[in-house]
Amino acid sequence: MFGVRRGFHGLIEGDVASLDNRAVGGIIERGGTMLLSARSEAFRTEEGQARALEVIRRHELDGIIVIGGNGSLRGARWLSEQNVLSVGIPASIDNDIPQTAMAIGVDTALNTVVECMNRLRDTAIAHGRAFVIEVMGRLSGYIAVMAGLAGGAEVVLVPEIPVPLASVVKQVRDGVGKGKHHSVIVVAEGFRPAGRPSERISAGRMITDVLSEEKTIETRLTILGHLQRGGSPSAFDRILACRFAEAAISWISSGRGGVYTGLADQAIAPVSFEGLDDTCRNVDPALLELVRILAH
Ligand code: F6P
Repeated sequence: MFGVRRGFHGLIEGDVASLDNRAVGGIIERGGTMLLSARSEAFRTEEGQARALEVIRRHELDGIIVIGGNGSLRGARWLSEQNVLSVGIPASIDNDIPQTAMAIGVDTALNTVVECMNRLRDTAIAHGRAFVIEVMGRLSGYIAVMAGLAGGAEVVLVPEIPVPLASVVKQVRDGVGKGKHHSVIVVAEGFRPAGRPSERISAGRMITDVLSEEKTIETRLTILGHLQRGGSPSAFDRILACRFAEAAISWISSGRGGVYTGLADQAIAPVSFEGLDDTCRNVDPALLELVRILAH
């Protein structure tokens, strides 16, 4: 068993280290990744791809397990098209990989966001303020909507469903009118208001400014950013990672590639790389509606 450090970048550079059973001792509670990570531009070039294949040949790798988000799994699909036995394991806090209910890291990130919301709500209540909380999700509103539900947000805004700023102001104002003394608004970083798709100001800043300008309620902004990544994984994530890993290793050992691990109906099932072309899994509008109902 070998570990490739820094993802496809490390593969191109031949950063491959031998791993034995003891190499992973004591890491179950650690955040991040012992194999490190990187975004690789070089792997998108023909030269980089040729070097990656050469490293695979040189190390006589029988197959590769790629752990990552949509981009990484597409990389695994490309390897598979080059006749490299490859299996993917979804790991992205955006949870936007098709045909798997969950990816590794999502649950931990969600719990972190909800913990932050709990703290921010204390100040919101104490001072009678609104808090705009910007969460990750450039294209995916998954964290925003799920954190909104779990953390009791009044309003959730996601990239998939642009709404006008005026309607955000109205929702918050209606809440104040109904006797709400505080408010929590969760906005995904990729949200843009209807009619302003290329707005460059951060999503959270935009909402905070409009609520302040319209004198709706005293409003503060918190951008959670990379605090949502890292940290000791939740029990759910540890168990999912163990189950995904076991499936990936058994498939690759029996010569089965071209798939990634998916969680469906509590079971782990192989999902073909082909489906990755379907792009993002969209946020379920019924869940957004549930946020609205609960905030009533
Ligand atoms: O792609 C997953 C994601 O978590 C996005 O939601 C976020 O915009 C992005 O990664 C941040 O990436 P980076 O760490 O490169 O800034």
